[in-house]
Amino acid sequence: MLSDILRTGLVHCPQHEVEQIICALYRKHYNKSLSRVMFYINLKKCVSHKFYLNCLKIFKQRSKGYPLQYLLGSCMFLDHEYCVNPGVFIPRPETEVLVEQAILHLKKSGACQLGLEIGIGSGEISIELLKKFPKLQMISSEISGEAIKIARQNARSILTRGVFKERRLKIIQSSPNVPSVLKIFNKHLNNNISSKKADFIISNPPYLTKKDKIDPMVYCHEPREALFVAGDPLKIYKDIAENAFMVLNKNGMIFLEIPHERSRKIRELFSGSQWKTKIVQDLTRRDRVLLAQVV
Ligand SMILES: C[S@@+](CC[C@H](N)C(=O)[O-])C[C@H]1O[C@@H](n2cnc3c(N)ncnc32)[C@H](O)[C@@H]1O
Repeated sequence: MLSDILRTGLVHCPQHEVEQIICALYRKHYNKSLSRVMFYINLKKCVSHKFYLNCLKIFKQRSKGYPLQYLLGSCMFLDHEYCVNPGVFIPRPETEVLVEQAILHLKKSGACQLGLEIGIGSGEISIELLKKFPKLQMISSEISGEAIKIARQNARSILTRGVFKERRLKIIQSSPNVPSVLKIFNKHLNNNISSKKADFIISNPPYLTKKDKIDPMVYCHEPREALFVAGDPLKIYKDIAENAFMVLNKNGMIFLEIPHERSRKIRELFSGSQWKTKIVQDLTRRDRVLLAQVV
C-alpha cells in the first residue's frame, strides 16, 4: 500500500495525503482531473509507470516530513490555488481568519481605497483583498526577493492581467534592518501618491521566538525570516502601534495576525483613548487576530 510509506509518524493522515498527492500530480502530469471513483477503482490502469515512479519519489520525501505544499508546488488559500516554493512561507488556515475579518470590516466601513501590507510572502492576503475590492490599491512590503517573485507570479495568475499596469498592487522591497517598517510606507506615500494616506494596514508578521514550541518540520523547511524576527519578537507590532498615525487616515483600521501566547501584550500596545481594539479567535479557539481602529 502506498499509504504505508507515509506511516512514519510525521504525516497525520497518510491515506488522505496519498489521495491528495496522486490527484494533484495527475492533474499536473495529464492536464486533467482524476475523479475519486477512478482513484479508488481504476488507478493502476490510468497512470503510466513513469507517473507511478514519480509518485513514489514524492511519497518518500513526504515520509521524512518535507512539507506537502512544497512538494506539490502549491496550496489552497480560501478559494484560490497559490504557488509556493521553499523560499516562501506556506499560507496557513489561521491567516484565512485574518483576511475574512478584514473583508468583513472593510465592507462595513466602506473605506477601502488604499491598503498597506507588511510582509507579503506568497501574496495571498493582498491578492484576496484586491480580488474582493475592485477599487482597492495595495502597497505591500517584503524583505525576501524570492517571496516577491512568487507574490508577483500569484498576482499575475489570480488577478486580472492589468493589475501591475493599473498600479493596483505595488510591492516594495524592504530591509530587515530598517528601524521602522512604516516609515518606508510613509516615504513611499509622500513620494508617489500625492501624500495620500491609507485606509488600513494588514500583516501576518514573523512572530515566533526561539523559545516557542515549533513543529520541527516548520523549523527545518520554512524560511527563517518568515518565522522569526531578530531581537524583540514584538518589534513589528510596536512599530505599527507607534507609527500607524503617520500613514493611516482618521478611522483607519489595523488587522494583525498575532501569536496567542502574547495576545494580551500586543493588545496593550494599542491601549489608550485613540484606539478601539478587538481580538478574534481562530478555529482552534486561540486568540489569533487583533483588530485596532484609530478613533
Ligand atoms: C509569517 S510570513 C507571512 C507571509 C504572508 N503574508 C502570509 O501570511 O502567508 C512573514 C513575511 O514577512 C516578511 N518579513 C519579515 N520581516 C519583514 C520586514 N521587516 N519587512 C517586510 N517584510 C518582512 C518575511 O519574509 C515573510 O514573507
